[in-house]
Amino acid sequence: MTLPPLSITDDMRNRYTQGWRASEELLIELHRLLYTYKPRSILETGPGLSSILFYEYQLLNPGTVYISLNHPSEHHKIFIDHMVELGFDVSTAHEAPLVDGYYDVSAVPEDSKFDLFSLDGPPDSQDRASESAMKFFKAHCHVGSIFVQDDTNRQAETRVITDMCAYLGRSDESIKVLQDSFYEHRTSKVLLPVE
Ligand SMILES: C[S@@+](CC[C@H](N)C(=O)[O-])C[C@H]1O[C@@H](n2cnc3c(N)ncnc32)[C@H](O)[C@@H]1O
Repeated sequence: MTLPPLSITDDMRNRYTQGWRASEELLIELHRLLYTYKPRSILETGPGLSSILFYEYQLLNPGTVYISLNHPSEHHKIFIDHMVELGFDVSTAHEAPLVDGYYDVSAVPEDSKFDLFSLDGPPDSQDRASESAMKFFKAHCHVGSIFVQDDTNRQAETRVITDMCAYLGRSDESIKVLQDSFYEHRTSKVLLPVE
């Protein structure tokens, strides 16, 4: 399948800190996942540049649920101002202060399940695979959920993917590794659904 070109411009890229924002490889993969799997519900932690892809997808696919959780508040404000400037509806982009080292997830409806998780935060966490984080993912995933985790060169981030892979009963072959070509130590991982 030929994908339409990425709509992200250098001006958009320059609003976010290199190394914090999604790598080019990750942006292309998110774009591919959206077009290939057509998720109806998306949960993003640590929004930013990547969010532009989700908002555009949501506009093209009315009815798509897209919720994001962000922290800390000064960066949330920068993010919201940028998304409003681009014309997106930010009503489900939530500021989520940390509670026991993970986001306050109270804005996420308790009974919601997500087709796609795009995970990149929280910035001040010591353990992004903490008990509260894993409990949250398990409560809101389903048998076909896709997990995308940035910064899997770190142990905790890789554990999110390996633990969810085991929890969902998938094999290691379901895990795809993306290498950041700008910061060579940096990787992201995708836990794909079973075909
Ligand atoms: C981990 S980054 C990833 C963002 C997103 N996935 C992307 O592709 O840009 C998200 C966090 O970066 C931090 N951040 C660093 N530089 C920022 C900036 N210039 N604008 C907004 N947030 C920034 C904020 O704390 C925010 O929650």
